[in-house]
Amino acid sequence: MKATATANSNIALIKYWGKRNSKLILPHNSSISMTLDKLHTTTTVDFSEKYKQDSLTIDGSKVPVDELERVSIQLDLVRRAASTHLKAKVVSESNFPKSAGLASSASAFAALSLSASKALDLHFDNRELSILARQGSGSASRSIHGGFVEWSKGTKDDGSDSYGKQIAPQSHWSSLAMVVNVVTPKEKKIKSRAGMSQTVKNSPLYKAWLETVDADLDNARKAIADKNFSLIGKTAEMNALKMHCTMITTEPHIIYWEPDSVVLMKEVMRLREDGIECYFTMDGGPQVKVLCLEKDAKKIQKRMLGFKEVKESIICHTGGEAKLEKKDLF
Ligand code: DP6
Repeated sequence: MKATATANSNIALIKYWGKRNSKLILPHNSSISMTLDKLHTTTTVDFSEKYKQDSLTIDGSKVPVDELERVSIQLDLVRRAASTHLKAKVVSESNFPKSAGLASSASAFAALSLSASKALDLHFDNRELSILARQGSGSASRSIHGGFVEWSKGTKDDGSDSYGKQIAPQSHWSSLAMVVNVVTPKEKKIKSRAGMSQTVKNSPLYKAWLETVDADLDNARKAIADKNFSLIGKTAEMNALKMHCTMITTEPHIIYWEPDSVVLMKEVMRLREDGIECYFTMDGGPQVKVLCLEKDAKKIQKRMLGFKEVKESIICHTGGEAKLEKKDLF
């Protein structure tokens, strides 16, 4: 009744932004991500009669009620599948700041889905696990897998065709790297969930976003299959900027960028002018992630760390799938 799992975070190269069904977390558009090897969450779940209610500790601290509630709802899905009412103690640890635009909900809900289902002895395959993780946080559907992953939007109302599938394994593109630059480890004020629902409702550019995303997906699939770095970089950078344009043009405006983020984006453009090919991507937070070739990663990291704004810089490569651990956290 107790199990532990670790899942890696992932960064979308083609972003998920907007839900067609917010209860089941079904997206308006498909997305493609790279699972990262250096950012991960480990979670232990213990179901037992001795617990009167669910409890959740993240990085050594008890969490606010709304976060516990979100985890309890996820545990309910697993409890329903296993026909049990047992409450659970959940302890989770990540090696990076949460809710700061580093896809912490992706690794967290992927690790929770795998550990909770294993603890109740449910033998889900990766498709079922991805569907389960998706209902906790959309991006978590992609963190079940390693390598490069596409989360199909699906068309069915019940979400049974909306899940993450690996499109290239972890070993596929070992010369690719992502330099993750943290400009502020603080939690963001507007969570992605609220931000995307406001954008779908209010942004005059949201329709244009949906109209262009399929071409981006085609280019990204092709670029990954052919290991075409210029194509994946250009496509990912433009896709991220388009997503941010939809947020900026919603009311009230959502601007996740800090002045420091803009400094770093411009530095990426300057690096290109200097002959070092690299591209940025950003999510629901101020952090700037730089997609590059492994041979340039250290040089780029050095340039980024030269800015006092950069608090931390981590060189990541493609990571592996979510996995069970032998050692529990408690
Ligand atoms: C900008 O997966 O955190 O990082 O489904 O509401 O939990 P919920 O949202 P979440 O959103 C991620 C948005 C993004 C883009 C992406 O990862 O595709």
